Amino acid sequence: MLNFEFSNPTKIIFGKGQIKKIKREIATNHKVLLMYGGGSIKKNGVYAQVMDALSEHQIVEFSGVEPNPSIETLTKAIALVKEEKVDYILAVGGGSVIDGAKFVAAAVPFDGDPWDILAKGAKVRSALPISCILTLPATGTESNGNSVVTKRSTQEKLPFASPLVYPKTAILDPEVTFSLPERQVANGVVDAFVHTMEQYLTYDVNAPVQERFAESLLCTLIQEGPKALSNPTDYDVRANIMWAATMALNGLIGVGVPQDWATHAIGHEITALHGLDHAQTLAIVLPSLMHHKRDTKANKIAQYGRRVWGINDASDDVVIEQAIAKTAEFFETMGVPTKLAGYGIGPEAVDGLIAQLIKHNLTAIGEHKDITPEVARAILDDAAA
Ligand code: NZQ
Ligand code: ZN
Repeated sequence: MLNFEFSNPTKIIFGKGQIKKIKREIATNHKVLLMYGGGSIKKNGVYAQVMDALSEHQIVEFSGVEPNPSIETLTKAIALVKEEKVDYILAVGGGSVIDGAKFVAAAVPFDGDPWDILAKGAKVRSALPISCILTLPATGTESNGNSVVTKRSTQEKLPFASPLVYPKTAILDPEVTFSLPERQVANGVVDAFVHTMEQYLTYDVNAPVQERFAESLLCTLIQEGPKALSNPTDYDVRANIMWAATMALNGLIGVGVPQDWATHAIGHEITALHGLDHAQTLAIVLPSLMHHKRDTKANKIAQYGRRVWGINDASDDVVIEQAIAKTAEFFETMGVPTKLAGYGIGPEAVDGLIAQLIKHNLTAIGEHKDITPEVARAILDDAAA
């Protein structure tokens, strides 16, 4: 196992009817920015629950954070925070709203152009405190220090990470996910699945704790994902998906092991240029990446095939082939197409995507830093149709 340090400071409050507990998590002397998205929280009752819980707090609202949050929108939130002298942010929504809140929290005290935090890796030295109420299990952002922000004017989608932007408290009530459209349910399951794979499907460092944890998340998502589509109000199904998605990217399964993240890096470029949902891009890239990296990932893909898919009594080669096919089939079963063509994007798009990777210095990615632009091109060419 590799050396590591691990700290996850986010307090999780999980379960039915727990949103009201936000009241005791934020001191009443704070002036709170309530950030949310396009209004789903007003339709499903979450907004009313939050306003009820925070009736003794001073609240300023900022709505309209869009999927794949943009710096153009978030700049307005930054100005509002400064103008209103807000000193706490409560994000209520999916990954986009929470990521947006993290960026605003870091940008307010930042000296200089906040885009540098993403484009130049400028260090975040302080941030406003954040808490969140999660409405879409997918990204793990509710208890990690990561955020991804898009600059629409230049079609760039870039991540940053800082221990200062972990939410203080995250409330996870699975009932609020009943109102998710099927597409977002599926996106969430695929995203959490791929997060687990990016930390699992690398090479052996003798870390069975992390591997078995990862396999339990993969098996849970495979079992529960389709049930959430067929029976959307099954609380236990939603609860297990929600907890799996948090566990997939709260740092735990990634400690002490090599990590890949090439699927995400390539996927972000597809979203930036073509506007696909985050998880849709991952469903396109991962099966093809597994195919192209089947030699360096052979042991892990075979282990995954046997332990997660139960493919036995076959040679490694056959198990690997079937495990890759099963992975794509699972995404398709969830209703997420695994080829660019499934989203109306032709093979000519690959050139532009490779140019973006080069522009962002993503020319040596993956756990062995061997996914060069040429390899990425092969992965995308095969993912075309
Ligand atoms: O905006 P509203 O009206 O709230 O609607 C949202 C949005 O349209 C809707 N929604 C959310 N909860 C709902 C709901 N609709 C009905 N009922 C509910 N309970 O769902 C739509 C999508 O929301 P969004 O927040 O964009 O989805 P997701 O949670 O998948 O977040 C995606 C973003 O997170 C980033 C992605 O790149 C993307 O920008 N990621 C963040 C990560 C992190 N910080 O660790 C890791 C991930 O790999 C990912 O990159
Ligand atoms: Zn993701």
